[in-house]
Amino acid sequence: MKKIITYGTFDLLHYGHINLLKRAKALGDYLIVGVTSDLYDKERGKLNVQQSLSQRIDNVRETGLADEIIVEEFEGQKILDIQKYNIDLFAIGSDWKGKFDYLMEYCPVTYLERTRGISSTQLRMQEHEIISIGLIGNGRIARRFIKESKYISGVNVEGIYNPRAASAEKFAREQELAFYTDDLTELYDKVAAVYIAAPHQYHYDYIMQSLEAGKHVLCEKPLALTAQEAKNAYEKAAEKGLVLLECIKTAYCPAFEHLLILAKSGRIGNIKDVEASFTKLTYGNLRELQADQAGGSMNELSSYVLLPIVKLLGTDPVDLRFYSQMQNGVDMFTKGLFQFARATASFKVGLGVKTEGEMVISGTQGYIYVPAPWWKTQYFEMRFENTNETNKYFYKFEGDGLRYEILEFVKMVNGGNLTSTRLKPEESIAIAQMIETYHEKGPIVIE
Ligand code: CTP
Repeated sequence: MKKIITYGTFDLLHYGHINLLKRAKALGDYLIVGVTSDLYDKERGKLNVQQSLSQRIDNVRETGLADEIIVEEFEGQKILDIQKYNIDLFAIGSDWKGKFDYLMEYCPVTYLERTRGISSTQLRMQEHEIISIGLIGNGRIARRFIKESKYISGVNVEGIYNPRAASAEKFAREQELAFYTDDLTELYDKVAAVYIAAPHQYHYDYIMQSLEAGKHVLCEKPLALTAQEAKNAYEKAAEKGLVLLECIKTAYCPAFEHLLILAKSGRIGNIKDVEASFTKLTYGNLRELQADQAGGSMNELSSYVLLPIVKLLGTDPVDLRFYSQMQNGVDMFTKGLFQFARATASFKVGLGVKTEGEMVISGTQGYIYVPAPWWKTQYFEMRFENTNETNKYFYKFEGDGLRYEILEFVKMVNGGNLTSTRLKPEESIAIAQMIETYHEKGPIVIE
């Protein structure tokens, strides 16, 4: 019996896929089809896949052409599969020509002519209209946002609003945007969604106005400066049937998502403590250091460290304590100690103090260690009393991570899902509540 193997994502199955499977099948007696896992696709930078693994497996099964379907989960698996299944021929489309020649050491390789004029990418583009995004504010992050948005199909940054027209004009020219305006109504007339990158104290007003105008909203962290405002914002989004997503980029990264799943899987026992730090030395006259512009380490950085705390320990701490070093009315460094019903958490954030940006999740059976920069998660270890049991996990982290939140936003808008499990409204509100408690209660100030 001649066994053939082929691989693919098989997203939104199309006749190009069917042609390929037919031809591969005709080359032998038994066809094995490897379908890429969601995680593997994300790891290799294929971020836009629309259908889940099980839907994609169903696609292949329904063709009736595969005798066996397997899942491709990691790089290098092809060699193992060829040996494990005693494969006689590896077949793949001609778009991969030359890329799998290294497999010839294990079995013959053939590249089958790709069907012209069709691809999953093309179908994904046709399926939904391109989401036009307007920027509100052109802070430093807005430049990065535009750059990262180019990696995600289905979105286009069209224009920019800034109450200071000259600044908007300069930015639009530099970034080759279609328009700029100092009139919010004009922005709302021209786009379907907004990305808010204005100073923190204006986030809430812009969110509410944008939702009122019927626009989906992607908003930089912190979404709002009080829990009540955050709550109002999510309620307004739900009432209007619009997406509102807070940009805490870590929440949307594949590796962080996997880390949370592993942490909650019971492998390290019951989680008893979370410790995380994020510091970024900042100098000069920047907004981050101005008290009247909602500056300070807590406002600027704590969304990151509060994210794993809320995700792993919940939204209801029993007690919160804060210690800060202040300068000109802003906290240059804050250490927080939280008590939950059955666990504790601590964090450090600093604009004027530097420390190791790592995270440790401690459990009754073991712990997870994520080295700096843990918020751009790409590597972590699960460690146990017996050091031989240590597991190491590696992931790809593309660009500076903003593309993952943009991707989540696009999927939500296109799929009509108003909330994300990666950062639920109640989690985002809890984070806002913790930051508010810091300001309300005030820290113990250390000279
Ligand atoms: N394929 C083909 N003809 C096409 C499209 C795909 O022969 N028009 C083949 C690929 O070469 C591969 C298999 O089908 O052997 C699965 O490819 P996959 O990457 O899932 O499909 P694409 O449509 O190329 O997907 P994408 O646009 O996401 O890259």
